[in-house]
Amino acid sequence: VHWTAEEKQIILAIWAKIDIEEAGAAALSRLLVVYPWTQRYFSNFGNLSSPTAIAGNPRVRAHGKKVLTSFGEAVKNLDNVKATFDKLSQLHSDKLHVDPQNFSLLGDNLIIALAAALGKDFTIEAQAAWQKLVGVVAAALSRNYH
Ligand code: HEM
Repeated sequence: VHWTAEEKQIILAIWAKIDIEEAGAAALSRLLVVYPWTQRYFSNFGNLSSPTAIAGNPRVRAHGKKVLTSFGEAVKNLDNVKATFDKLSQLHSDKLHVDPQNFSLLGDNLIIALAAALGKDFTIEAQAAWQKLVGVVAAALSRNYH
């Protein structure tokens, strides 16, 4: 992928505004509510029986933060996202058996969580750059599936 200087600047500016714990929890909770089949991977997380239960589940919250923190490695290594996620791709494929389509679904839910949290700061240009980024991350995580 090629990033323009403007895209890079916008991605970093938005990243600086994100509350990683809140946005990570919002994105993962939303994924689990809107695409309930994704709950199958988190059967050891306890109560996921309703949107309220999901939103209040401390393990969902902690894992959302972990995932978004990890996503931050892409933000810091924009020119090297594939290599950055090489090991994680292997883990999600070989160990966790996560269907790679779910990476795109999580990305879409992250975009919605950011738009909701940042309001007017999440401009059209910010959405475009972040949409590209979640696509690049999803592709990198899907890379070691065979
Ligand atoms: C674990 C990152 C998407 C399912 C993890 C871990 C990280 C991570 C850093 C912890 C790895 C470790 O313990 O060494 C990401 C990133 C994603 C992503 C950056 C996309 C942006 C997904 C999706 C699913 C998923 C979409 C399923 C729908 C899991 C599961 C675990 C895990 C089940 C193990 C959880 C546990 O039992 O603690 N992921 N992940 N991940 N991920 Fe992902």
